[in-house]
This record gives sequence, C-alpha cells and structure tokens, in this order.
Amino acid sequence: MDTRQTVTVFTDFFAERGHVSLPGARLVRPPGDPVLFTTSGMHPLTPYLEGRPHPRGERLVNVQRCLRTTDLDEVGDHTHLTVFRMLGSWSLGGYESSQSLRWARELLVDGFGIAPGRLHATVFGGDDRTGPDTGSLRTWQELGVPVELTGEDNWWSNGPTGPCGPDSEIFVWNGDGPPRGTPTTDPGWVEVWNHVMMRYRRHGDGSLTPLPRRSVDTGMGLERLVMVLGGSRSVFGVDEFLPWTGEVSRLWGVEGRALRLVCDHLRSAAVVIGDDVRPGGNGHGYVLRRLVRRTLTTLWRHDPSRTLADLPDGLLGGTLDRFGQPPAGSGRVREVLLDEEHRFRTLLERGRKVLSRQRFTGPLGEDDYRYLHDTHGLPRELLGLLRQE
Ligand code: ALA
Repeated sequence: MDTRQTVTVFTDFFAERGHVSLPGARLVRPPGDPVLFTTSGMHPLTPYLEGRPHPRGERLVNVQRCLRTTDLDEVGDHTHLTVFRMLGSWSLGGYESSQSLRWARELLVDGFGIAPGRLHATVFGGDDRTGPDTGSLRTWQELGVPVELTGEDNWWSNGPTGPCGPDSEIFVWNGDGPPRGTPTTDPGWVEVWNHVMMRYRRHGDGSLTPLPRRSVDTGMGLERLVMVLGGSRSVFGVDEFLPWTGEVSRLWGVEGRALRLVCDHLRSAAVVIGDDVRPGGNGHGYVLRRLVRRTLTTLWRHDPSRTLADLPDGLLGGTLDRFGQPPAGSGRVREVLLDEEHRFRTLLERGRKVLSRQRFTGPLGEDDYRYLHDTHGLPRELLGLLRQE
C-alpha cells in the first residue's frame, strides 16, 4: 500500500464512523502559541480540546504536516524525520478511549492487514499525581493485545502548559525474527500510533486541573506507518522518498547516513519554505537556516563545489504537491535555497580567513567567541566546524 492509498484508507475508515475531515493547517503556529511549529495534529485544535465546541462537530479526522526538531541529531537513522505527516482522529467530549483503541486495532488489522501478532501496546502505569490508566489496560486485555505499563513515556502534553493526559501507544513489530522483549526493551518494536486521553490542563506551575470534558486525541506518523506496512526497515524506503534518495545519490554520490540526512533536510526545507518561512537568525527562520546549513555542511564535507542549484524542479514541486502546497512554488523554494547557500558559502570563506590569524590558532576563549560572533557574525557552532576542517 503506498502513501496515498494509506491516507485514503485511514480517512475513509473514520469518515464511515462519523468523523468530519478537516483540512491540514500550516506548519507555522500563530504568535502567542506555546510552540513555533505544528508538531502534532492536535495543535490547531487546542482550544477545542480545552472545551470550546468545534463548529464541525465532536468527531474529526485529518492529515497534518508537522515539524519536529527535538530529535535533530537522530535524523540520518532509519526512523526519524523532521517534517512528516500525522494522521489524526479526535473525539471532542464524545466517545471514550476504549472505543478509540478498539477502532485502532480494527483499522490496523482489518484495514491495513497487519497480523495481530505484530501488535503491542503501552499504557500509563500511574505516578504520584494520577493513577494508572486502567480503562486502556482493560481494553487491550479484552482485545488480546499484549500491554506494557510505563511511566512518563505514556504521558502526553502539548508543550509546558495546555491540555495533557495519559496516552496509550501502539507498536508494530518490524524487527528480524521474533521479538526478544517489549517496546521499551526491544527496538524492533516501532511506535506507530498514539492515543492521548486528554483529561487535564497543565498550568505554568506544573499543577493539573481536570478539563471540562474528556477528549481523545490520536496521531499516527504516516511515513512510519507506510514503512511498516511495506515491511521496510527504513522510512527512506517508502514510495515518497524514492525520488529523493534516487536524485540525491545520482547528483552527489552521497550514501548511508549522509544521504538520509540530506534527503530529510531538503524535503523539510522545501515544505517549510512552502509555508512562507525564510531563513533567519531566530525563531522559524533559524530552524530553516539550520536545516539548509546542516545539509550543505554534509554535502561540502567531500566536495565544496556541490550546489543546490542542481536539484530538479520536479522533485521540489512534487514534494510541495504531496504536502498540499502549490507545486508552482518550487521556483521560490529554489531561490530561497540558493540565496541561503550563497550566504553560507560567503560566511565560511570569511570564517576561514579570520581563523587563519595567529590569534586564533590555539584554543578559543569566551572573549574570542564573543569577538568572532559580534564583529564577524561567526556563530560558535560554525567555528567548531571550521576548526575541524
Ligand atoms: N498528540 C499526540 C501525539 O502527537 C497524538 O503523539
């Protein structure tokens, strides 16, 4: 099943059960939001999870583009992506978690054809503030799905304040041979779907108060799901990544971890630019700048003449299209990437020149870092890089 079919099966399943399909929101969160970027399908729904009635009803479904940079250093492995799509379903004060978990098993097994023996769940085991999530535990036991109880791994919050609650995660076995452990001990279990029982609001001082009504918020990483459905060990092996891995290796001959990082970061940069972000020194722009500069650092390690100008328009436009952005925006994406490449190249040249001075040949002190940053615009992480060359 390819990515498009997977989306259709998911949204049809929930539509048949009375869920209204919502369009996805932009990646950029409005000012005042506790997060810079949409990192989960529920972000645009926060006021409704906190109790406001949703104009489209209490059962919702959608596909939301998300950006997560918390795991940036893990990108390059086989399962982490910066930009991904989340398949989400919500019950805003309607059915409870046991119904959501039952539908999850039904969809995974009957809709997507995953063998029941490949499923494992985790459930919140309780802490000093709230008790264990016995409802979810009982549901999984009734469904015959093995369950592991954990602590904070099964508690989900929308940033430092806002709606939160215990969650139940569903894992699919994607390892070699039979499992040797549970989701917390055997990495062959891949987390695909999270069901959050939104029951509390977290306040600035960390205290919890019950929400006016209980909701269920679920999210499933689309690329990971397609990976396990296809029996692939790598998210970069799914249909939508093949044009990226094919082109990037053909153009620049990079492979392994470097290939995965370049494909992830450039695809993400295209989508972020497609949502009107431009590289900059802070906030959204800084995240984009890091994605582009990490890509260029990787590409230039072996050949500084490599340039993003070689990226085919079709690759950029196809990506925008899949993320619901106008494919004609590929020209603008290219311009922004090339402008940032030019800036970075100029900065590196200046950095090399400055660092070749006698004063900077030994270890750098705080005064040196301050001077290099304030006078020459050379950030500390870039200096580290230049000194490794
Ligand atoms: N909001 C939950 C998550 O992002 C579903 O994992």
